[in-house]
Amino acid sequence: MSNKMGVMRVPLVVANWKMHKTLMEAQAFVEAFLPQVEEIPIEVAIAPPFTALSTISMILRSSRSRVLLAAQNVHFAPSGAYTGEVSPQMLQDLGCRYVIVGHSERREHFGEDDPLINKKLIASLEHDLIPILCVGETLEERRIGATYRVLERQLVADLKGLTKEQASRLVIAYEPVWAISTGETASLEDAEQGACFIRRLIRGLYDEETSESLRVQYGGSVKSENAYELMALPDVDGLLVGGASLDPLAFARIVQAAAQAKH
Ligand code: PGA
Repeated sequence: MSNKMGVMRVPLVVANWKMHKTLMEAQAFVEAFLPQVEEIPIEVAIAPPFTALSTISMILRSSRSRVLLAAQNVHFAPSGAYTGEVSPQMLQDLGCRYVIVGHSERREHFGEDDPLINKKLIASLEHDLIPILCVGETLEERRIGATYRVLERQLVADLKGLTKEQASRLVIAYEPVWAISTGETASLEDAEQGACFIRRLIRGLYDEETSESLRVQYGGSVKSENAYELMALPDVDGLLVGGASLDPLAFARIVQAAAQAKH
């Protein structure tokens, strides 16, 4: 698990349920899932819809589980007249450790741009939430050879004003948009190159220590069949899993494969 500077990067596998599961379904998932991952030596987090955060938080606490709670979105303000939004304090209060920020579905369907994502990152970090910042190129951008330009543009804008200490706490998920929910996973080479590019860019923006301590995930059609080989890549420290995280046993297999790959 340690890299070339001897820094430990604890692997992190996150379930992003998106807009799925009623409260009953969420409870049933957690009850089936927790016994499968009790002894797992990596970090695992579940990002349910807001409606299930409180219930899952209580189950995790009462069962003393090491599984962590994540939110799928956050507003940047501490409170105020923002109908329908949820603040970093509210998430922290519920016991969330992580929050997904800048997912491509939020960029595409809800008009989130880099300056807004930047505000969300700063607000989350100020309230001890660890942002999982999602970046990635569309198919069109990949076709015209703009992949790394896009990653650079997103990261430079999203991280604007973040201190070195703040940047080293981040998790960055490389999620090629064309691989999300399509069943078409990036090749191992593309996943490693994307993760490696992100780390190099962070080194340029900050320094080697920051880039070596920052965790980079891969996301986009991860399943139990490809989790091991993706996690075996040197620059991939974790996985952000959508569709395949909806089934407790399938997600447990992914977590187990990820743990095996890093040990
Ligand atoms: P997917 O989603 O695993 O269903 O492709 C990943 C994500 O959107 O984070």
